[in-house]
Amino acid sequence: MHLLFVGIVLALSSLVSSLDNGLVRTPPMGWMTWERYRCDIDCEDDPENCIGEDLIKRIADKMVDSGWRDLGYVYISIDDCWTLKARDSSGRLQPDPKRFPSGIKALADYVHARGLKLGIYADLGNYTCGGYPGTTLDNIKIDAETFAKWEVDMLKFDGCYSNSSEKAIGYPKMSAALNATGRPILYSCSWPAYEGGLPPKVNYSLLGEICNMWRNYDDIQDSWESVLNIIEWFAENQDNLQPAAGPGRWNDPDMLIVGDFGLSYEQSKSQLAIWAILAAPLIMSNDLMTISEDSKELLQNRLMIYINQDPLGKQGKRIAKVGCLEVWLRELADEQYAVAVLNTGTDGLPKRFTTSLAELSITKCTFGYKLYNVFDKEYLGTFKPETAFQLPVNPSGVVMLFVRPAALAYHPL
Ligand SMILES: *[C@@H]1O[C@H](CO)[C@@H](O)[C@H](O)[C@H]1NC(C)=O
Ligand SMILES: *[C@@H]1O[C@H](CO)[C@@H](O)[C@H](O)[C@H]1NC(C)=O
Ligand SMILES: *[C@@H]1O[C@H](CO)[C@@H](O)[C@H](O)[C@H]1NC(C)=O
Ligand SMILES: *[C@@H]1O[C@H](CO)[C@@H](O)[C@H](O)[C@H]1NC(C)=O
Repeated sequence: MHLLFVGIVLALSSLVSSLDNGLVRTPPMGWMTWERYRCDIDCEDDPENCIGEDLIKRIADKMVDSGWRDLGYVYISIDDCWTLKARDSSGRLQPDPKRFPSGIKALADYVHARGLKLGIYADLGNYTCGGYPGTTLDNIKIDAETFAKWEVDMLKFDGCYSNSSEKAIGYPKMSAALNATGRPILYSCSWPAYEGGLPPKVNYSLLGEICNMWRNYDDIQDSWESVLNIIEWFAENQDNLQPAAGPGRWNDPDMLIVGDFGLSYEQSKSQLAIWAILAAPLIMSNDLMTISEDSKELLQNRLMIYINQDPLGKQGKRIAKVGCLEVWLRELADEQYAVAVLNTGTDGLPKRFTTSLAELSITKCTFGYKLYNVFDKEYLGTFKPETAFQLPVNPSGVVMLFVRPAALAYHPL
């Protein structure tokens, strides 16, 4: 009996073994340049938007002053287009001195002094996607050492300009090279996105052992269409994706575009609700200098963040789809749950959705559950599992509920 139990525990723990660098036991939160700032290197004519240390410092200051850091948004990441077009005489990547006059180490110091972490970008291949020097298999060791020497905290490793067999060698090799530096560096792998994101081409057990997070699918664009397309892909493939995630190892549906140009207020809630259910990294790409109060309040919603950061680390799933209404459910620690009802329709009349906790398979606590509306910041009362209730769901919007056993007193609103 005892041996059998040990055997089961071992089997379970090997199933969920993750990259052993101690990082991101809950999904990483932060900010990244790519979706909003792209490859803008024109600091002369577009100083507000160009990729350089000035932008990173302004954002870092904002992350502290406007409360982002204290809510958990601590990674601040430079994406593509930060280097010169050639390596230096010793073969190292070098930042463009016009845009990063102080160098990356000084920038890391600036960011660290504010209680934040610095992320950087490289690409396994001949070039980065933007045409800057790539990291070929031969360069992996020197690049890992360079990033560690600069005291960088996160690496996004893209995959343009390499083939599948090079990727199969290069992604594990970079993981080992980062480990060998002795510096814990969050390792974000774009590998699966280049292989279609699904088994048998993608081995999620292996990914979880070598990467902390990975992009599974297409780049997000600044539109609701793009968000919906990503949501649908994650739902359709959830049986492959959901078991891959856990503490230290996360699926990444890509950046949050809340606060940019493309999403309405309702659509912004929808992206946040589904990303929280998916246990996705909450990495914004937006202009924190000019963001609206509405967008800021949504991104800083404490209950949404609490759900996303649940310590169980179990990714949620779409459990029903009826016409344009979708029901998403995530199991949280302490028998708590998060539910999102999404209306993908464009019919202007809010859809009334009637359900009960029992219908959502939330039945364990016969005393009932306290229900909170996450984005309305409203306590809805205590509900027995079989009690029916109705939710009006706005077009391209969502109602997100936090469900907590009635016996648990504290609520995190
Ligand atoms: C390197 O890997 C070993 C073994 O998995 C682990 O114990 C150690 O913490 C890792 N170090 C870093 C810096 O990631
Ligand atoms: C990378 O460069 C090598 C050497 O020039 C070339 O043989 C290879 O095809 C290139 N790979 C890709 C994916 O572009
Ligand atoms: C991938 O690239 C490597 C090195 O450039 C080459 O040796 C190999 O044949 C290529 N593999 C495929 C499947 O194209
Ligand atoms: C996937 O990777 C795991 C862990 O490295 C390995 O044990 C397993 O054999 C691989 N699966 C396939 C189908 O290659």
